[in-house]
Amino acid sequence: MKSIQFLCLILLLSFGAKTQEINLIPEPVTLLKQSGFFNLKPSTTILLSNNDPELQRLGRVLAEMIGTPTGYRLPIRTGTKTTINAIVLVLEKTTFQVVGQEEGYSLEVGRNKIEIKAQTTHGIFNGLQTLIQLFPKEIEANAVQRVAWNIPSVSIQDYPRFAWRGMLLDVSRHFHNKAMVKSYLDQLAKFKYNTFHWHLSDDQGWRIEIKKYPKLTSVGAWRVPRVGKWWKRPEPEENEATTEGGFYTQEDVKEIVQYAKDRYITILPEIDVPGHSLAILAAYPELATVPKNFKVNPGSEFYRKVENSLDPSNDKTYEFLDGVFTEIAQLFPHPYIHIGGDECYKGYWETSNNCKKLMEKEGLKDTKELQSFFVKKVEKILQSKGKKLIGWDEILEGGLAPDATVMSWRGTKGGIEAAKMGHNVVMTPSDFCYIDLYQGDPILEPDTYGKLRLNKAYSYEPSEGIDSKYLLGGQCNLWSENIPNKRQAEYMTYPRALATAEVFWSAKDRKNFDGFAKRVEAQFARFDVAKINYSRSMFDPIVALVDKQIQLNTEVNGLDIHYTFERGIPDNFYPKAKNGDKIPIPKGADQIRVVNYRDGKPIGKILLISIADLEKR
Ligand code: ACM
Repeated sequence: MKSIQFLCLILLLSFGAKTQEINLIPEPVTLLKQSGFFNLKPSTTILLSNNDPELQRLGRVLAEMIGTPTGYRLPIRTGTKTTINAIVLVLEKTTFQVVGQEEGYSLEVGRNKIEIKAQTTHGIFNGLQTLIQLFPKEIEANAVQRVAWNIPSVSIQDYPRFAWRGMLLDVSRHFHNKAMVKSYLDQLAKFKYNTFHWHLSDDQGWRIEIKKYPKLTSVGAWRVPRVGKWWKRPEPEENEATTEGGFYTQEDVKEIVQYAKDRYITILPEIDVPGHSLAILAAYPELATVPKNFKVNPGSEFYRKVENSLDPSNDKTYEFLDGVFTEIAQLFPHPYIHIGGDECYKGYWETSNNCKKLMEKEGLKDTKELQSFFVKKVEKILQSKGKKLIGWDEILEGGLAPDATVMSWRGTKGGIEAAKMGHNVVMTPSDFCYIDLYQGDPILEPDTYGKLRLNKAYSYEPSEGIDSKYLLGGQCNLWSENIPNKRQAEYMTYPRALATAEVFWSAKDRKNFDGFAKRVEAQFARFDVAKINYSRSMFDPIVALVDKQIQLNTEVNGLDIHYTFERGIPDNFYPKAKNGDKIPIPKGADQIRVVNYRDGKPIGKILLISIADLEKR
């Protein structure tokens, strides 16, 4: 009897492992599923191939990642003696090569051992992220879970498609504190992002302590408290207390830079000049063409009505930027500093006598060339600090600075043009990479603008029209006008940042949206365990008026669409449509309600929209 029970247990365990799915994001270059699994036990050893201090640290990181949810305190040893019941991390700087990719790794999970090999510790780190995704989802918990810690047998070879895999977080429009930034970095690392673009200044707040210019934070980091629709919020009143905001001290910055470094993420700081500078002018009004009592903007409309650009004709502007970039360069090891350069309103430059005089003296034919003059001077400042300049694609206008790298956001045109001129580019076109846009029907989503569905984010191909020699990689951007807190940041980030993670990492021929959507759902279950928010908008109905009929669509395949033009609440007993069906509008119909089902269960939100609103779209 005992032996039958034992047999049943073995069968159950092996059946469990056979059906344990592999859902990795980003998808590795090659993945070979094998039968069987590795069972992690309290006695499993972490074996490190040598005494490299960083490899030793990664061994401890792995022990900790595993320790919290399993309750196991895995022993860590160093040596090369083959062992069973071990997770082996092999750093082979000379002998092992993953097609020349320094972030690459191989991962073998067998019944007796797991082995990650790489030529750099970055590769080992990437392999660890993949390994954790192979564990049951409970590995994401922050308390001990009782599950069988089985890891399916696989053989993986993996390396990134692009070296620059970035994510921008705007901390100006809404300040996000140190704990939030760390948590955000934790998640980015899991999906093999390696660049965190920190948008540290804008019209709505300056966020980093600069010792030489203390008013940047004592004044520029604070604004009058407001809620409500962005750009429609009441303007600051005279003498109203500025109680909303915050900033990072230099000690905070050092801590976050190290925190990111421990996760193989480098931080690209952005100081957005010469436009987007109202918070600077609130602190140092003498840097405007006409000094005034400027106020940090709380989300009220001001563009063109209030100057928000630095005066490019004033030597003090460059002295100020030299002081700021001296401290920024010391704080951030990233080879680049991002100087913004986008959306600079030049109306006040046009009427400034000093600007006119400078343009005449320098032979600049318009204010675009004046901005180019400014950017070229800033490039020299950065170079004097040992840094390279990167800016938004507006820096192309009026002539690109000699060694500038361009971040292409207004579509792909700027990136294509810059690469043709032999400049490096990072691609982040807003219609594919801006994750502050609506991800589902605006009726069902919090207020924002534009539209970027998951499937569109996934469809992006960064190399189109660009010589790969100049294409550093790509980036996803989370602007924060409508991101008041961490939960909303996560909601907007996931799952679209999973799509771009795959676009920037995975081999082009590995991409498949249906397969990706399935893996995203598996990731949702892991986010639930990790208590990370995300959006399920990919399951919501898509309704449009086409040829005077209602067209119903779904973003992911395999859903049943149910709808009604009457007053009921549709369920799966209501009329059903197929993806793309066009439904004639019954006489008198003033609205439609739609819901999606899968396997007889509701999935996604119910969408109610009036026919009149559909006609207006
Ligand atoms: C930008 O979105 N203004 C770079």
